[in-house]
Parts: sequence; structure tokens; C-alpha cells
Amino acid sequence: MPQRNVEPSIAYRLLYPGLTAIITSSWANLDDATPATSCSALSFRPALFGVSISPQNFIHELIMKSKSFAINLLSAKDIRSASIAGDISRRFNTRKVMDSGFTLTKSKTLDSKVIRGALGVIECSLERRITIGDHDLFVGKFETAYAEEDFRGYWTFNEYVPILYTGSTHNGTKHRFAQISKHFVEIPYQQDMAKKEAIELTLQILRDKAGIRTLDRSTAVKLISEKLNLRVPDSKYLVDHLVHEKMFQFGHGSKTTY
Ligand SMILES: Cc1cc2nc3c(=O)[nH]c(=O)nc-3n(C[C@H](O)[C@H](O)[C@H](O)COP(=O)(O)O)c2cc1C
Repeated sequence: MPQRNVEPSIAYRLLYPGLTAIITSSWANLDDATPATSCSALSFRPALFGVSISPQNFIHELIMKSKSFAINLLSAKDIRSASIAGDISRRFNTRKVMDSGFTLTKSKTLDSKVIRGALGVIECSLERRITIGDHDLFVGKFETAYAEEDFRGYWTFNEYVPILYTGSTHNGTKHRFAQISKHFVEIPYQQDMAKKEAIELTLQILRDKAGIRTLDRSTAVKLISEKLNLRVPDSKYLVDHLVHEKMFQFGHGSKTTY
């Protein structure tokens, strides 16, 4: 099938459907609740979350001033509210949150509010703001998170039906949302045998060598690179992996601190 070129200004739509969270933030006596599809986990350790917000949106100002925001996960029954909150701004409509059908309640750790009845909430303090083109990326540090029964380490999707934004209808008059079906495709995990073998060989070589003399990281990396005929970044990966997983430790006199 021939492929068509996609304009840069609409290439982001190739990423749809996008999970849409409702971002809440409060400052002084001002509250806002605004849908954001550009919201994602950024790092596991430390736990960091990102949301990309246009400076034109009122919530941008509240996040800047309060230095905090919450990511609220709502279910499909709240699609209408999410859609309304994405059409109107709190900047000129003081009743925006209420008109959208949301009720806010005190957050657990922030001076902000969260959405009552949200199935999941991640409360974040603002770690930093990164200006990226016409949006700013707010990087939030995990403060606390809580969720309804449906989340048992992962969502079970018995109650939670995520809000998935697909853009506008083709005549551009309506927002359109997709809904997941519960026909999951489950693929068994694959063992990465080549990686496993490389880890085992590295461990063997380092243990043998460490028995003879004190090793430091850079010597270990060079040794593995030579012995296994690997590129230096791959050899670094293996050495650091063993240390990180506590399978190998550099002895006293090592120049490396972990
Ligand atoms: C489904 C949906 C997703 C949206 N995602 C984002 C987003 O990720 N970032 C953003 O800045 N605006 C996003 N918007 C636009 C804002 O939600 C919208 O401009 C809102 O009215 C701003 O309200 P405020 O001025 O009260 O903050 C989205 C809108 C919709 C309908």
C-alpha cells in the first residue's frame, strides 16, 4: 500500500488514541481541572511523571505558582466532563470545574485538589519545567498515588475504562474517544538467551580476575570488551548490570563508587 506524507503539524495524531488524564492544580483560592493527552511516566527510579501543557492554558499558571499538580485517571463515564473541560478555560469561566461536572476534594499531600471519584490519582510536586516549543513539559516528582480496587498492581479493567482520545471527527465538529474492548492478546515473555549468556560469561571472567587482583570498573570494562569482543558501551552495560543487580562488587581500592 502506498504511504501518504503526514504534515508536521498533525503528525502527533499518529500517536492517537492517547490516554487522557485530567490534570488538577490549585493555587490560592483558584482551582482548575484540565484534560491532557500528553501525559506520561518519565522515570521509574526516581518516580517522575511528565505532562506537556501549553502556556496559554490557565492550569499552566496554577502549576507554576503552586509547584504541584495531580494526574487524575477517570473512567469512560466521565468522557463528557473531560471533553467539556478541554473546551472551556478557567481563565474566564470561574465555574469551569463545576460546569464540567467535576467535584474537587483535598489532595493527600499537596496544597492542591484532586477529582472526587477518580479511579486513580498520582500527586506530584513540580521538579522542573522544560520549555519545549509551544508547550512546557512539567516534570513532577511522585509524592503519593492511590487507586480503586480495579488496580491490583495493574489495571484489571473490570471497572476502569480508560479515556482514549482519538482527535476530532472527520467533519471536525466533535471530539472522538475510543473505548477498549477486553479482548486482550497475551504473549509469553521471551528469554533473551544472548544477553543471559553474555551476563554469565562476564560474571565468570570478573570473578576469576577479582580472585587474582583488585579490579576497578574501567579495568573490568576493558577486560570484558577484549575477552568477549564487545563494543565498550556494551561491556559497560554488562559490568554495571552485575553491580546494579548485586551479582558482583568491586573490592576495596576500587576507584568506582556506586
Ligand atoms: C482530549 C483533550 C486532550 C488535551 N490534551 C492537552 C494536553 O496534553 N496539553 C495541553 O496543553 N492541552 C491539552 N488539551 C487542551 C486543554 O485541555 C484546553 O485548552 C483547556 O480548555 C484548557 O483549560 P484551562 O485554560 O482552564 O487550563 C486537551 C484537550 C482535550 C479535549
